[in-house]
Amino acid sequence: MKTRITELFGIQYPIIQGGMHYVGFAELAAAVSNAGGLGIITGLTQRTPELLANEIRRCREMTDKPFGVNLTFLPSRTPPDYPGYVRTIIDSGVKVVETAGNNPQKWLPALREAGIKIIHKCTSVRHALKAESIGCDAASVDGFECGGHPGEDDIPNFILLPRADDELKIPFVASGGMADGRSLVAALSLGADGMNMGTRFIATQEAPVHDNVKRAIVAASELDTRLIMRPLRNTERVLKNAAVDRLLEKERDLGASLTFEDIIGEVGGVYPRIMQEGEMDAGAWSCGMVAGLIHDIPTVKQLIDRIMAQANAIIHERLAKLSAR
Ligand SMILES: Cc1cc2nc3c(=O)[nH]c(=O)nc-3n(C[C@H](O)[C@H](O)[C@H](O)COP(=O)(O)O)c2cc1C
Repeated sequence: MKTRITELFGIQYPIIQGGMHYVGFAELAAAVSNAGGLGIITGLTQRTPELLANEIRRCREMTDKPFGVNLTFLPSRTPPDYPGYVRTIIDSGVKVVETAGNNPQKWLPALREAGIKIIHKCTSVRHALKAESIGCDAASVDGFECGGHPGEDDIPNFILLPRADDELKIPFVASGGMADGRSLVAALSLGADGMNMGTRFIATQEAPVHDNVKRAIVAASELDTRLIMRPLRNTERVLKNAAVDRLLEKERDLGASLTFEDIIGEVGGVYPRIMQEGEMDAGAWSCGMVAGLIHDIPTVKQLIDRIMAQANAIIHERLAKLSAR
């Protein structure tokens, strides 16, 4: 399948694996790229630029296909060594960067000069337009359904994607709620040039996370996610568990006086315990509503082949028949 996104990134299928904290290691990124999509290593999961350089090296040993690195710019009192990470990405010869969170403008000249293509993840049309205006090559448009940070506008993809299509000149992928061939064809119909998946890729054989995490996603329905940190304007969609119940109770009790310190026990540094140790109630972890569409744990290649087969069947059989005279 050829779209502006496959052309831009030199990939076979218009399917991207979004950066995911403590999930996006070399094993998953390489599996996605080997299966014809674009795998992405999560930069900040590597605690130092040197560790990121090592992770990029490991990924390159596992695939000769293009892969990218995610750089997330979230509010932080002690910001990570962003200049060091950017230098590492450039020196390692990576050709795609997925930026997310705050405006990446400051880092674009250096990245672009190195021939790196930038796809910025946005949760609103105005942020996507901003990304276009500062020179990003593509956008990943993340609807309200998404796992992780959906922003504060709460616009689902059935509205957000055609709005992006109306306004953007750069290509964009649909992100949030994407799971199968139906999602891909719908995304293409709504104006996207491909799709980005997070939660769906966690429930695969190659995702280097504890089996408990994969099983929790398979067991969850579309009703099982919650929005946390809304009073802090740092909303995150997570899977409901004991820690999330506790956190939401604090949000209700403290109202507008809630601070980050009040909930640090539920959100601070919990990812290694959940993703690696499988302690499913250790804290809040990102998960999309799409969990309701995830019923198995295939290999990445089985998943991507199945998505493409289903998408092609919908386009060439179901839809073709509808328009046949
Ligand atoms: C466990 C998890 C961790 C995530 N971590 C990050 C991250 O560190 N940076 C980022 O830009 N997006 C992150 N995301 C968001 C994904 O890249 C992607 O945009 C999102 O999962 C798409 O929605 P979906 O889960 O419905 O497919 C995370 C998502 C999940 C599920």
